[in-house]
Formats: sequence, C-alpha cells, structure tokens
Amino acid sequence: MKILVLNGVNLNLTGLREKGVYGTETLAEINAKIAANCAAHGDEVDFYQSNSEGLLVDKLHEAFLNKLYDGILFNAGAYTHYSYALRDAIAAIDLPVVEVHMSNVQAREEFRHKSVISEVCRGTVCGFGAGSYLAALEGLRYILK
Ligand code: DQA
Repeated sequence: MKILVLNGVNLNLTGLREKGVYGTETLAEINAKIAANCAAHGDEVDFYQSNSEGLLVDKLHEAFLNKLYDGILFNAGAYTHYSYALRDAIAAIDLPVVEVHMSNVQAREEFRHKSVISEVCRGTVCGFGAGSYLAALEGLRYILK
C-alpha cells in the first residue's frame, strides 16, 4: 500500500516544544521510524508537514485527485479542534484518513476534547506518543487488506 503521513500546524517543532507532552523525538526521527516500518512491510510512504491550513487542504485534494495513495495518517495539530475547512476536505475525498494525536487529547484541556474531523475520519489513535502513528498505520493496513 502507499500512504501519506500528513502533519499540520506546529508539528514541525515536535521534539523541541512541550517535551513533557510530546516527547523528545523530532518529527524527522518519528518519520524515520514510520519509514522503517513501511519498508519492513513493503509499503510506500510520503511525508508532508505544513503550518498552513490551505496547503493541508491542497495536499488532501491532490492525494485524491491524482490517486496517489491508499490511505492517509493525519495529525492536524490544533486545526483538529476548529478547522471546518479540513473537515470538509477529508469528507470530500474518497480515501481513508486516520486521525492521529501523540498526546491523549481527552485527558487534556477541554478545548482539545472536541475534534471537528473525527466524524469524517476512519478512526482515531491518540495518547501513544510517536507510537500513535505506528498504531494508526497498523489500523490502516488492517482495513485495506
Ligand atoms: C496534537 C494535539 C493537539 O491538541 C495539539 O494542538 C497539537 C498536537 C497531538 O499530536 O497530540 O498540536 O495533535
């Protein structure tokens, strides 16, 4: 399978910001683990991060219109909690999107308890640090088999 790992706002600072919440591994290190896992399974993977909501929407459209991927792992960062534009983009594309969060958003501030994208995602994994991406990848493999 071919998958896209999409990371949204502030995720480029992973490993450098709020280390007690998000850990000390950088996004590049996390992506390297995902790439190694994909290589071991014979899966292809691309990575994209942007702090811009519009560029994330463009990437979702492009993935769908150009039939580039079988599924997408998406950590939208704080956009998760209020971006109807990203929600509509996920709803618009005929591709399974798995919502990913490193932290357990349900155990944090109240504004993080609401995800406006969950309803249009195939599933959600949160709370396992970098392991959330790997667990979401397993979930994607299971449903695409
Ligand atoms: C996050 C959780 C969000 O609430 C937060 O805004 C982030 C990261 C996570 O991976 O735990 O930026 O998506």
